[in-house]
Amino acid sequence: MLRLANIEKSYQTGPTRTYVLRQANVEIRQGEFVTIMGPSGAGKSTLLGILGMLDHSWTGEYWFLDQPVHALKPKMRSEINKQYVGFVFQQYHLIDSLTVYENIETPLTYRDYGRSERQAMVADILDRFQIVGKKDLFPNQLSGGQQQLVGVARAVVAKPKVILADEPTGNLHSDQAREIMELFTRLNQEGTTIIQVTHSRENAQYGHRIIQLKDGWVVGEERIR
Ligand SMILES: Nc1ncnc2c1ncn2[C@@H]1O[C@H](COP(=O)(O)OP(=O)(O)OP(=O)(O)O)[C@@H](O)[C@H]1O
Ligand SMILES: [Mg+2]
Repeated sequence: MLRLANIEKSYQTGPTRTYVLRQANVEIRQGEFVTIMGPSGAGKSTLLGILGMLDHSWTGEYWFLDQPVHALKPKMRSEINKQYVGFVFQQYHLIDSLTVYENIETPLTYRDYGRSERQAMVADILDRFQIVGKKDLFPNQLSGGQQQLVGVARAVVAKPKVILADEPTGNLHSDQAREIMELFTRLNQEGTTIIQVTHSRENAQYGHRIIQLKDGWVVGEERIR
């Protein structure tokens, strides 16, 4: 479903070129639940950003649902992202000028849902995440954990084919973290492909396998079940 072949990414700072991803070959099948782990700075968020088609400056080949992403223009990549991907950002990236309700509604506006259908879907998610009382607040009126919950809610609301989640529970209480992992497990059982980045061994246990990154290299793999 997703296949990366020899993906490299580097930054040029003055005369030196620093590589943050090296010859990454990664294949993820439809319906898999994969965890990416590794030390800080290993390139995990970088890799997820490429998979989510949010980052366009890399080399190599990336196939997404038989589409050659490497050959597509940025606009087309963004279209694929909007249609198929729900992304949970490590730093939340909520839209400051929109309320909680409107932030969660955003991915639905990219798809063919009518107004009342959108309202029902957002209401359901607000209820499920127990944030109904926060729906008219703006992101800067929320705690870090609440912002993270809204970020997860926004990523799952449109029932995307693929969920990419960067440390989705890093700021949550352990009960809430478990609920998010159980939600991901349920969505995965219903067919959603999930790729998460986490530092938590506990969260990793919910997935099928772990891909280990270090200094930009894929250095290992571990099967959970
Ligand atoms: N704009 C930039 N210029 C130069 N180097 C960058 C830039 N952005 C990121 N990097 C480098 O890329 C490397 C990988 O960063 P990345 O955010 O992918 O790490 P990570 O594995 O997600 O770490 P963490 O666990 O802390 O989130 C880091 O060494 C970082 O300094
Ligand atoms: Mg990161």
